[in-house]
Amino acid sequence: MLFPDYRPRRLRQNENFRRMIRETHLSVNDLILPLFAVEGKGVKKAIESMPGHSQLSRENIVKEAKAAYDLNIPAVIIFGIPDKKDALGTGAYAKDGVVQKAVKAIKDKVPELIVITDVCLCEYTDHGHCGIIEGERVVNDATLDLLARAALSHARAGADMVAPSDMMDGRVAEIRGVLDENSFETVPIMSYAAKYCSAFYGPFRDAAESAPQFGDRRTYQMDPANSQEAIREVSMDVEEGADIIIVKPAMCYLDIISKVREEIDLPVAAYQVSGEFAMIKAAQKLGWLDEEKVMIESLVSIKRAGADMILTYFAKDAARFIGGGQ
Ligand code: PBG
Repeated sequence: MLFPDYRPRRLRQNENFRRMIRETHLSVNDLILPLFAVEGKGVKKAIESMPGHSQLSRENIVKEAKAAYDLNIPAVIIFGIPDKKDALGTGAYAKDGVVQKAVKAIKDKVPELIVITDVCLCEYTDHGHCGIIEGERVVNDATLDLLARAALSHARAGADMVAPSDMMDGRVAEIRGVLDENSFETVPIMSYAAKYCSAFYGPFRDAAESAPQFGDRRTYQMDPANSQEAIREVSMDVEEGADIIIVKPAMCYLDIISKVREEIDLPVAAYQVSGEFAMIKAAQKLGWLDEEKVMIESLVSIKRAGADMILTYFAKDAARFIGGGQ
C-alpha cells in the first residue's frame, strides 16, 4: 500500500469516517472511581494536590458513591485513613475500621454499586510501610496473615471484591485461602500484581497520610526499569488465584499493560495514579493543557495499550464526557 494508491487521509476526512474506523472506545463500563474514607461526621476535607477529591466521612462517601452510580460508573475502590495508627496496622483489620464502616454504609444505600477495597497496611501503620517491620526490614511472611485478616474483614463488611496493593510475596494465595475457608469463595481478588515503586504516588500519600516514615518501598514494589519481572509477578498471582490483574501506574507503563494483556488470559486493569492526575490538573491550572482533551487521550491510550478497565480519579468527569453511553 503505497502513495498515491493508498491515501490514509481518505478515511480521516470527517468525524463520521473517523468514527467508523476508530479502534478503541472508552466506555463508562471501564471506569473505577477511588474514594478516601475517614472517621467523623460531615467531613469533606479537600486534598490539595488532587482537585475535586476529598477525604470523606461516612455520609459523604455514600453521597459520592451514589453520584458515581448515577453516572453509571460500575465500581468504586475504597481507601481508609484511620484516626489512630500503630506498628501492626490493626485498623486495617478492625471489625469497625474506617473502611469496613464505609463499605457497609455504601452497600446499604447503593447496593448495586460494586465496592472494591484496597487491602494494604500502609495507611494503618505508624511507620507507613505496607508490612510489619523488624528493625528497618519489612517482613514478608508475618505480614500475610494480617493482610488476609484485612481482606476477610472487608468481605464481612460487604465488599464485593478485594484488591491487595502491598506487593508482599504470596499474599494472593493467603487471601484466597482465608476467604474460601470463611465461605467467601465468590469474592474475587483484584491483585495489584505489577505495582512499581513510583514517584507518581506522591499526591496519594498526602491524601492517605501513608508516606513511609523511614526508607522507601523499593524492597517490595517493583523497579521501574523492569518489564520481564512484571510477567513473573503477574504469572505468580494468576497461579495463586487472582481474578483481575492491575498494572500500576499507567501512563509510564503502557508497555507493561500491553505485554501483560498479550501474555495473560485474565481481565487487566490499569491504575492511572494520583501523580498522573495531578500533573494534568496542574497543567490545566497554568493554562498549559486542555484538561478534558488530555484526560480522554490518556484514558483512551491506556485502553489501547490493552487495559479492560481503569482506576482513575477522572472517573466522574470521564463518565460525564462519555454521557451515559455504551
Ligand atoms: C498502597 C497504595 C498506594 C496507592 C494505591 N494503594 C500508595 C503506595 O503504594 O504508596 C497509590 C495510588 C495513587 O497514587 O493514586 N495502599
